[in-house]
This record gives sequence, structure tokens and C-alpha cells, in this order.
Amino acid sequence: MDADTMARMTLDPVAALMLDEAGPLPDRVLVVDDVGGALTRAAVDAGSDVRTWCDDLRDVAHVPPAQRLVAPLTDWTPQLVLWRLPKSLSGVEDYAEQLAAHVDPATRVVAGGRTKHMTPNQNAALGRQFEQVSASLGRQKSRVLHATGARPAAVRWPLRRHLPEVGITAIAHGTVFNTNRLDDGTHLLLRTLARTAGDPVVDPRAFRGVALDVGCGSGIIAAWLAQRGWETTATDVSAFAVASTRLTARANNVSVRVRHADMLAGTGPDSVDLLVSNPPFHIGAAKDSSPTLAMIREAGQVLRPGGELWIVFNGHLPYLGALRRHVGNTTIEAQDRHYIVARALKAPQL
Ligand SMILES: C[S@@+](CC[C@H](N)C(=O)[O-])C[C@H]1O[C@@H](n2cnc3c(N)ncnc32)[C@H](O)[C@@H]1O
Repeated sequence: MDADTMARMTLDPVAALMLDEAGPLPDRVLVVDDVGGALTRAAVDAGSDVRTWCDDLRDVAHVPPAQRLVAPLTDWTPQLVLWRLPKSLSGVEDYAEQLAAHVDPATRVVAGGRTKHMTPNQNAALGRQFEQVSASLGRQKSRVLHATGARPAAVRWPLRRHLPEVGITAIAHGTVFNTNRLDDGTHLLLRTLARTAGDPVVDPRAFRGVALDVGCGSGIIAAWLAQRGWETTATDVSAFAVASTRLTARANNVSVRVRHADMLAGTGPDSVDLLVSNPPFHIGAAKDSSPTLAMIREAGQVLRPGGELWIVFNGHLPYLGALRRHVGNTTIEAQDRHYIVARALKAPQL
């Protein structure tokens, strides 16, 4: 078996189809949202000068430092873009706007995804930014969109929305969870926190300390906590979520320290009074509760004695036992048809 065949065997069906549809690779290739570094590796092996942008920190880890772009899609004009499509239409729109603003009309874009996540609306979104858009035939439940003739149209993302229910203005990129809307689970979590934990807006004597919003998305929870006087840090594994949370904090005139981090990585032991999270239930497109279970396991260490973890999750997820085992006494503070809001207390030091 030759090296080329070996390399292609490590590619998933989407990446393999993207490379086949791209044909011979040109000198300058931009890879966007590579999964596991496979496309970057293939393009480097083909002799191209490659730059790679990944939104997810876990994907960045698979890209050799020489290929990493630190700012998304800037200052370097590729001849070909290999772009792993996001699942959401808003994500396709946002990336298409950014790509069209930074590539030449001659640049070819080869965008791949799983057929079940692709809709004709994505072609239309690309068609607003590129003269020619066409779709490949499907193969192994995957499909590719070809686009060329960049003609940057109006840039809409990131978009702002005022959320009167929680008194926060959210600004979000198109790839961010729920973009700038208020998730029902997040709403239930904030309503319950305000009612139960003592809301400094209502009760000026309520305790405020160090708060951490894990998986901050557009930053609604972080901005809400900061607005109430908590010294707030927010973390997310997505670079666009980090950027959105910074914009949301600024739009609400509050100070939030925002870190691009995988769950509690970089959070010191006994350093947090209040950990709040509407945690992820996916890795990429696949449902997976293991990152959240890992976060709950570590939460007992980063919370100060007497600290609290507040978390909202879909009722069928297996978190209550883990909260009791790894954090402490756990109560259900609110529940509706879909969600549970749980509060876990780390025992105070005696
Ligand atoms: C359910 S969304 C909640 C977003 C936001 N807090 C809200 O309430 O609208 C979960 C968030 O967790 C982020 N996330 C996923 N995996 C993560 C990880 N390993 N570490 C940190 N954040 C992660 C996602 O990017 C997403 O923004």
C-alpha cells in the first residue's frame, strides 16, 4: 500500500470526498474546521503551503503549530479552501461572509458535510457570497458544495438581540449554540438562580464572589452574573463563542474574563464560589455526555469549600449521581417537561 492510500484511509468519508472533489491541490490551501488534522496532513503531504483555522480548541490541538492561523481567515489569500461545513445554517452564513471577504474571486471553495446536515438553504447562503455554487453527487452519506467567484455581500454576523426576559443583550456569531437567542434551559436556570440563590439586584445583601460560566456560548449567563456583581470568568472550547461572549459583555457594560479552554482546564483548585453551566451534550455532531461528566468530576476540586455548582440539563441525562458523588449534597431546584436545574453544594470546611 502506498503512502497516499495509507493517508486517505485515515480520512473520514467527508474529508475523503472533499479531497477527491478538490482534485490536485494548489500551492496555497486554507483548511477550515479540520477534524483530527486529517485534511491539513493530506494537504501538507501533497506539498501545499497550508494554513488551518479551527473553531474548536480540541481540533486545533491536532494541527501542527506551523499551519495554525491564530486569527480566523485573515491576511493570507488561498487558492483553495477546504471547509468542513458547520451543521447550522447560521454557521454557514457567518463563515461564508468571512471567507468571501478574505479570498479572491478565483479562489475555489470546497465545502463538505454529512448529507443529513445539509439543506438547499446552505447553497443559497453560499450563493449570496459566491457567483457560482454547485453540489457534488453524494457518496457514503457525504456531499460537497463547490463555490467560486467571491463577491462579498453585506456582513450580517455577529448579530445582536435584546433578551428582555433576562435583561441581557446577546451578540453572537452564527456558529455559536442557539446564536443570540435565549435557550429555554438557560432561561429556567437563570430564573431559578435569581429566585433561590438570592439575587443581588433584589437583595443587596446577597453574597457575591468568584463565578465561572463553563461552556459560555454567547455569554448570556456570564453577563447576567457579572451584572449582579459576581467577579465572572467564562470559558468555551469554541473560539467564536469566546469572541461572542466578549462582545456580549461589552454590550452590557460588564467585565467578564473570557478564556478559550476545554471545560475546567486552567481553573485553579478551591478558586470558584459559584460554577454555573448549561453544559454541552454533543461533541461535534454526536451526542456525548462524557465531557460534562468529566467537568462534574473536576468541579468538586475547583469549588471552594461551601461553593455551589448550578447546572441545567435535559432530564434524561445521568448527572445527578455524579453531582452527589463528586461535588456534594445535590437538590433539584426546578424541573419542567424537558429540563432539570440542579444545585450541588461542596461541604464547607469545618
Ligand atoms: C448548551 S451550550 C450553552 C451555551 C450558553 N451557556 C447558553 O446558555 O446559551 C454549551 C456550550 O458548551 C461549549 N462546549 C462544548 N464542549 C466544551 C468543552 N469541552 N469545554 C468548554 N466548552 C464546551 C459549546 O461550544 C457551547 O457553547
